[in-house]
Amino acid sequence: MTTAIVGVGNIGSAVARHLVAGGEPVVLAAKDESRARALAEELGPLARGASVQDAISGADAVLLAVWLGTMRELIPANARLLAGKVVIDPSNPIGFDASGQMTRTLPDGESAGSVVAALLPAGARYVKAFGTLGADALAASARRDPLAVLFYATDDDAAGRTAERLIRAAGFEPWKAGGVAAAGRIEAPSGDLHQYGFNGEVVDLARARSATASSGA
Ligand SMILES: NC(=O)c1ccc[n+]([C@@H]2O[C@H](COP(=O)([O-])OP(=O)(O)OC[C@H]3O[C@@H](n4cnc5c(N)ncnc54)[C@H](OP(=O)(O)O)[C@@H]3O)[C@@H](O)[C@H]2O)c1
Repeated sequence: MTTAIVGVGNIGSAVARHLVAGGEPVVLAAKDESRARALAEELGPLARGASVQDAISGADAVLLAVWLGTMRELIPANARLLAGKVVIDPSNPIGFDASGQMTRTLPDGESAGSVVAALLPAGARYVKAFGTLGADALAASARRDPLAVLFYATDDDAAGRTAERLIRAAGFEPWKAGGVAAAGRIEAPSGDLHQYGFNGEVVDLARARSATASSGA
C-alpha cells in the first residue's frame, strides 16, 4: 500500500516521518514540489517526491495535509483522481486574527469534516484522522509507552480500517470517535476529543475509551 501525503508542512512532514519509521512507503507532494522532494530525500528510500497529480494517482490512500481553504480548491481540481481513494482529512476549522488569536472559521456546529466530505467526488472514501493533536505533540508522541491515541471519524468501514492501519504504522493507537457526524468532536478549537479538549493532554487508550464511553460514542 502506498500513501500520498499532499502538504509537507507541520502535519504532513510529521506523519511522513512517522510512517517511514514504521516501514510504510509514502509519496510526498506540496504546492512547491521541490519541498516535497527535499523531504523525501531526507527520509530515504521509502519516500519519494512527486507532483500532486502523480502522488494522488499512484496512491491507495491520500492524506490531505493542507488547510481547509486549500482543500476547497485542491479537491475539485483533483476530483477525478480522488475517486476510489481513501481520503484522510486532518483539517481543523481554525484561523488566526490580526493579534494572533485563534479563531473558528466555520459557524458553531459545522465541522471541517462535513465540509471536506461534501467536497469529495462520489466513490472517494472519507476519513477524518491525524488532526487530533497539535503538530508539536504529533511529532513528539509516536511510539510512546503506553501508546498515544489518535482519534478518527468515518462512515466508511474500509476507510476506517485503512486509517487504523496507518495510525498504528505511525506509532499511535487508533480510536474511533464515531461517524462523520462526530468529526467536530475531534477538531480544534472546540472538539472535546481533540487534544485541546483534554486541556492539552496527549491521551492513551484507557482515557480515550472512557471519554467516548461516557459520551455514548
Ligand atoms: N499545525 C497544527 O498544529 C495542526 C494540528 C492538527 C491539524 N492541523 C491541520 O492540518 C492541516 C495542515 O496544517 P499544517 O500546520 O501542516 O499546515 P502548513 O505547515 O502551513 O503546511 C501546509 C502545506 O500545504 C501545502 N499546500 C498549500 N497549497 C497547496 C496546494 N494548492 N497543493 C498542494 N499543497 C499545497 C503547502 O505546500 P508548500 O510547502 O509548497 O507551501 C504546505 O506544505 C490543516 O488543515 C490544519 O488545520 C494542523
